[in-house]
Amino acid sequence: MYKELCFLSVTSSNPCGHRRAVVTCAVRNPVPLNRGVAAATVGAALIAGSLVPWLDSLPPMPVLVKTAQYVVSNPQSVFSEDYDFDSIYMDERVLLIGKRPVLIKQLWGNPSETSTGVVVWPAGEKMSRYLSTKVPRAALNRSNVLELGTGTGLTTIAVEKLGAKVTCTDGDPRMLELAKENVRANGALKNVSFRQLRWGVEEDMKPLESTSWDWILGADITYKEGAWADIAKTISRLAEKKTKVLIISQRRGVDDIEKFLKTIQEHNLECVRNTHTPAEVYMLNICDVK
Ligand SMILES: C[S@@+](CC[C@H](N)C(=O)[O-])C[C@H]1O[C@@H](n2cnc3c(N)ncnc32)[C@H](O)[C@@H]1O
Repeated sequence: MYKELCFLSVTSSNPCGHRRAVVTCAVRNPVPLNRGVAAATVGAALIAGSLVPWLDSLPPMPVLVKTAQYVVSNPQSVFSEDYDFDSIYMDERVLLIGKRPVLIKQLWGNPSETSTGVVVWPAGEKMSRYLSTKVPRAALNRSNVLELGTGTGLTTIAVEKLGAKVTCTDGDPRMLELAKENVRANGALKNVSFRQLRWGVEEDMKPLESTSWDWILGADITYKEGAWADIAKTISRLAEKKTKVLIISQRRGVDDIEKFLKTIQEHNLECVRNTHTPAEVYMLNICDVK
């Protein structure tokens, strides 16, 4: 039913700047992006922003009036079987994570960006939806979360909204800037800190050792075989017995996932692939057996 919906999202505040509204209208794809639709959406957001008292309780968001367009795969499912690869070309996407629209700026095609993290990958979408819809809220609320290879920051935003305290990391400082921009735009800055973490690099891992991590999350970080040992080293170093490590990978070779699991096992970590899907996205649950 939700397949191939486009969403127009508008955020507004009333003149006092206190009440904010996010109005999302679902329309059929292709969206008729004409002035009438835009005016109606903006109008609805303005009225809702000044009339609905509970909007006061929403976290602060920058006052922006934007229209963004996106295509979602069925939000009832955590799998993106029909992920629309055209979405990587969009400068902005609005993704429905749980019941929440999340606005993400992307930098695809920007010649100065060399990281793969410039767009939301299917595994990142799946990670955010999985945590928002399938994991009990109590498991994330007030938990200490470390995200590896954040890219645009989508997973960090999703778990912050679920009450977690997040350390958002990437090896590329530019991705940290992009993630910060997206985290701020979604009003999630309060419980998020940003830090460069290059997998396996001693000086980056050391300061993170003093925190007892409840979760370590990594979406689409296993795409380079050369980085597997460093990812395993990082997890092995920072995870404790209680830490839930969730890596969501996209299969890119015939047996790349199995080989990654082998590397993980060589570092004394036990892996359970707890979900197998017809889609190209696999979820790995890695349990520390040290
Ligand atoms: C394919 S992107 C995934 C981004 C995001 N998690 C998602 O699923 O949309 C991989 C991310 O890992 C980061 N990365 C790549 N190699 C890394 C390394 N050696 N250390 C830390 N981060 C790295 C990249 O900068 C990029 O942001």
